Amino acid sequence: MKKVNIETTLYVYDNLKELPKDVVLLMEQAIEAREKAYAPYSQFHVGTALLLDNNEVITGSNQENASYPSGLCAERTAIYYAGAKYPNAKIVRMAITAGSKLKTTSEPIPPCGACRQAIAEYEIKQNTPIEIYFMGETGKIGKSNSLANLLPLVFDKSSL
Ligand code: THU
Repeated sequence: MKKVNIETTLYVYDNLKELPKDVVLLMEQAIEAREKAYAPYSQFHVGTALLLDNNEVITGSNQENASYPSGLCAERTAIYYAGAKYPNAKIVRMAITAGSKLKTTSEPIPPCGACRQAIAEYEIKQNTPIEIYFMGETGKIGKSNSLANLLPLVFDKSSL
């Protein structure tokens, strides 16, 4: 038996002013998308904006359903749409923001496990890292230089 330690690296920015201007613009588009979320059941609104290497920006928000598991997270709404509309474009970066209508969300909110798995598929497909910036409604912003840092021990096609 041997012990395996896995290390990962994240960056934390204190506020939006610390981010590069183009990232702030992308986060503002994610905020706009968050405001369009359809989340009557959880009251938890998530928005995301993806920058593609063809300079297009794709946004998405979570879409809930009375049959709860039929709903979809913001990140997957956006990434699947990007894949459907621009199948050959690479995703350069992704901005995510989440806020609850029931309390203040001031901590960075990372994508859920299912979304990490979905993003991993595209990162592996395009063979270049996807930068991921994530925040609540206010406060600090987390950044990962690639999805791989958020999902060590990924399950991918090499296992099939
Ligand atoms: N949600 C997202 O949109 N992204 C995540 O990464 C976490 C969760 C949504 C799903 C559901 O509509 C609501 O937030 C509460 O889980």
